[in-house]
Amino acid sequence: PRRIYGERDNSYGLDLSNEHTLAQLQAHMQSACNIEFDIASLTAVAVNHQSPHSVLNPSDHRDVVGQVSFIDAGSVGEVISTSIAAQNTWQQVPAATRAAMLRRFADLMEEPSRMALLMMITVREAGKTLPNAIAEIREAIDFCRYYADETERLNLSTPVGTVVAISPWNFPLAIFVGEVVSALATGNTVVAKPAEQTSLIAHLAVSWLYEAGVPTDVLQLVLGAGDVGAALTSDNRINGVIFTGSTEVAKRINSLLAARDDNPVLIAETGGMNAMIVDSTALPEQVCLDVLSSAFDSAGQRCSALRILCIQEDIADHVVEMIKGAMDELVVDNPAFLATDVGPVIDAEAQENLLSHINTLKQIAPYHEVAIKSDAPNATFVAPILFELKDLSQLKKEVFGPVLHVVRFAAHELNDLIDQINKKGYALTHGIHSRIDSTIEQITDRIEAGNVYINRNIVGAVVGVQPFGGHAMSGTGPKAGGPFYLQRLSRIHRWDTPV
Ligand code: SER
Repeated sequence: PRRIYGERDNSYGLDLSNEHTLAQLQAHMQSACNIEFDIASLTAVAVNHQSPHSVLNPSDHRDVVGQVSFIDAGSVGEVISTSIAAQNTWQQVPAATRAAMLRRFADLMEEPSRMALLMMITVREAGKTLPNAIAEIREAIDFCRYYADETERLNLSTPVGTVVAISPWNFPLAIFVGEVVSALATGNTVVAKPAEQTSLIAHLAVSWLYEAGVPTDVLQLVLGAGDVGAALTSDNRINGVIFTGSTEVAKRINSLLAARDDNPVLIAETGGMNAMIVDSTALPEQVCLDVLSSAFDSAGQRCSALRILCIQEDIADHVVEMIKGAMDELVVDNPAFLATDVGPVIDAEAQENLLSHINTLKQIAPYHEVAIKSDAPNATFVAPILFELKDLSQLKKEVFGPVLHVVRFAAHELNDLIDQINKKGYALTHGIHSRIDSTIEQITDRIEAGNVYINRNIVGAVVGVQPFGGHAMSGTGPKAGGPFYLQRLSRIHRWDTPV
């Protein structure tokens, strides 16, 4: 029987409609829980750390989430040496034993009290809403079970070696776990470097991976900022890098690895300028809901988020008006509150970049902006905003936040519009709303994308069901949560490998 990952109705024991559960959860979320941080347990070797700094909740800086110490860039060499020394023993561990550790880790995350803790940290450290936090944990669990099944099915015999896994803050648990467990599943040793903004949740995940049986020298966590990532990727002894983040950093890592003679592996998943094309046969109410979740869920901080809405001119006035009305209903507030739809962006730097784009565009384009409800000091909220552009040339780069750009097109301009979207250079996630099969085919045939979603929203790819990733400026492939991912982390592909 086919296994289903990411069951949509499964909130893993947390019944959010139950008042008792809710009260407990809210109490847990709002307790001033300053997370204890055991620095010594991060790596298998003693390395130098800088003095600790406080992690502040992006929706309210009065809330100190925990303390983090970053490693000195000069210390990463010792960490890598330890991984290399552990490689031979780890790769001889049978695939079934490695898979059992991943499943045990998934079971631990599924325990209600641990899940509540993960939710609390996801909300307070990363500013995610409660529904987003649930989806995040569910995706992390799915990655573990999917890659455990895959490594047993494929029985790949030779790992690439020591892999550096660099993960982003926008999916601080799901992508972090996905990168780490895919490499572990195939018998690689891992040095994991999460985004500096979301160190706490990564630390918790690694401590539970140890509890699930992964040896401390096989997986080491390096917390750091600045040149720590570069120190890891420029160490000539590593055998591969899994990176999720900006296209610019991916290109730098790619050139570093390409300059070496031994061809280390790179899996990079980067950005997107994702579009949804809506023709005049689309169902306006459905478009409205799907645009809202695609553009503003997670405060637009998904690489899959909708940046460009293309509406056929015949229905544009009507549909854009509906979208603006629905935007006015969005609650922009502390994500620990159940009523909140849109939380903060990750930090002041992200906020400044977004506000600079927004203020420039406000000079030249009509817009509709939502009010921010929170008045917490130093919070990094950005009001969701819709801009009506004359054409796509007014949008130069990926804008990573709750900013939606709308352009109108005439039916005869469809191919030209798709070409303009392709010329942006990205190929990640697009959407189509239409009830004409030939139009859907015309767009899917012509548009460059990793994932195209039809008559639905364009976010929330499900592990094992909708493998996620793109090409061109959006990444190297293979898609995460899909059947080819583990093979990239292995040297030998058996010719009879079933896929
Ligand atoms: N995997 C996420 C999604 O599908 C994006 O990173 O929304």
